[in-house]
Formats: sequence, C-alpha cells, structure tokens
Amino acid sequence: MTGASPARAEAHHHPAGTAPDRWDVIRAIEPVVGDNLDLLVPIERAWQPTDYLPDLEADGWRDEVERFRRSAEAISDDLLVVLVGDMVTEEALPSYSVALNGLVRDTEGTSPAPWARWLRGWVAEENRHGDLLNAYLRLTGRVDMRAVERSIHHLIANGFNSGSQADPYNLIVYTSFQERATRISHANVGKRAGREGDPQLARICGMIASDEARHETFYTRMMGEVLERDPAGGILAFRSMLRGLIAMPGRHMHDGRDPDLFDHFAVVAQRIGVYTARDYASIIEHLVRAWNIAGRSVSGAAARAQDELCQQADRYMRLAERTSAALARQPPVAFSWLRDRKA
Ligand SMILES: [Fe+2]
Ligand SMILES: [Fe+2]
Repeated sequence: MTGASPARAEAHHHPAGTAPDRWDVIRAIEPVVGDNLDLLVPIERAWQPTDYLPDLEADGWRDEVERFRRSAEAISDDLLVVLVGDMVTEEALPSYSVALNGLVRDTEGTSPAPWARWLRGWVAEENRHGDLLNAYLRLTGRVDMRAVERSIHHLIANGFNSGSQADPYNLIVYTSFQERATRISHANVGKRAGREGDPQLARICGMIASDEARHETFYTRMMGEVLERDPAGGILAFRSMLRGLIAMPGRHMHDGRDPDLFDHFAVVAQRIGVYTARDYASIIEHLVRAWNIAGRSVSGAAARAQDELCQQADRYMRLAERTSAALARQPPVAFSWLRDRKA
C-alpha cells in the first residue's frame, strides 16, 4: 500500500476488521447534532402548560374551572388510568435526563457542545409534559392526587435502567424506540379523549405527541448517522437492545400497595388500544426500515444480527397476536389512583 489516499486515511483509523470506537463515532456526529438543534422549538414560540389550562387570574376563573371540569367528566375511568400511568412516567424525567447524560457526558452542566445543548433543550421540552398532565388530572377532581404523587415519588426513587449498559449506541436506539412509543401512546389517548367527549384533553395530548414526534425524529436520525459510520456496530447494538423486551421507563412505578401496578396499567392501555403489543412490533418494524438495516453491507456476527433484526418485527407481530387475546381477558382491578374504582 502506498500513498495517503482517503481510503488509507480511513484504514488508519479503523484497520480492516477492527470496529471503530463507539465514542469516536458519537463525537464525529456532533456537527450533525448541531445541524439538528432546530428540532427543538425556540422558547419564544414554544407552548407552555398554561396555554391549555383554565386561567386562574381571569375574572371569570370560576366559570372556566367549572367548564374545564365538566368537559373532563366525559373521560372514562379506563382512559383516566392510562393517562395517570403516562403522567407518572413523564414525571420521572429526572431519571431519564441522568440516563441520557451517559450519552452526552456534559460534566459541567452548561457545556456549549451540541450534544449537551440538545440534552438540555430536550429535557426542558419534556418537562412540560408531566407538568401539563399533572395539572389536567388535578383539575378534573377525579383522581386521588396523593396516591399519584406517591407513585411518582416511588418511581423516581426506584430508578430507571434502560438496559443500555452505558453503551452510547444502545442509548440512542433505546431513546428512538421510546420517543416513538410515547408519541403513539399520547396520540391515542388524545384521539380517544376526543371520541369520549373531552376536546381539551384531545388538544393537550396532541401537543405532547407532536413534541415526541420531533424528538423521535432527532434520535432516529442520529442513529442513522451512527449506522452510516459504523454499520456493524450499530446493527449489533440494535440487536442487543432487542435481546429482551425493551424496558418500559415507568415499569418501577409503585403506589405503596399494588406490587403489579405497572402491569395493571399496561393491561388497561392494551385493552383500550392506547399502547399495545402490536404497537411494540410496529415500532421495531419501523426502525428496521428507517435505519435501512436490510441494506447495510456487513459480515460475520453483524450479518447474523442483521438477519435476525429483519425477522424480528414478524416474530413480535405473531407474539402480539397471542398476547393480545390473553391480556384482553384480564379482569379489571382496583386502582388507588381512582380511589379503588376498577379499570
Ligand atoms: Fe414526554
Ligand atoms: Fe419523549
């Protein structure tokens, strides 16, 4: 080999058969992160929870609150339980921001680096989701807010483990998955709220879902960038995250009483079609396509992982057919959140 061709320079960094260092790749895509910071909405144009709540400073605040509560009476207990579970999950944002700093590695807290600016902007946008849902639920007067708050307290104290094992690719795969999952879930709650007769909750969930959609776009794009630079590593990471079921961020929620609280919440979400096993399979299918997994040229272990990934969605879809029926048969259970009304 002679001369310093680009191919040779490349080979110098990644000799044939050697995987590039994953942290080098994360640093290499930092300029692309910078180019995608416009997926955050400028604060001057961003919505705030107040925009969707009764104005308590207005002269007619009593009437506004009255109207708000009357509209919320239309919501079924099933939908209310799912909304509480979604809200508790959103309220554990402190845990997710800690987890994602494992990717971003901002040791100062105010780093001007693109990854760090993304993380702060993302947390700031996400922070409104729990705030708004919390305020909505409180104003309905239909939920035992102390039981809900205790569940949030437990969830944050119990912690959150994405299963990423401190690997940066795994974290991006995980977050791409979860942003899409939350978008689907909030969007479905919103649609159902509209059908049940509460347009204000439909609007709220629609706004939150549109945030999740922008966030999903960001993480999915960044994983696409990783795959361009390190297809084998990216495919192996995606495969390793799908070895088990993708961990749900709220799965350690607890109300001090029901040891299966998360599962009970998840069963209701499945039953009313807000977030189902089929949605889970459809997210895998989407990501395999979005990341062009089938079209990547890889060999060895990565090629085997590629084959597995391409069959994964079908396998989950078949699994979903079986589990959906079983889940639908689960009897309603009493929720502390609803003062023991069943859902
Ligand atoms: Fe969110
Ligand atoms: Fe999100």
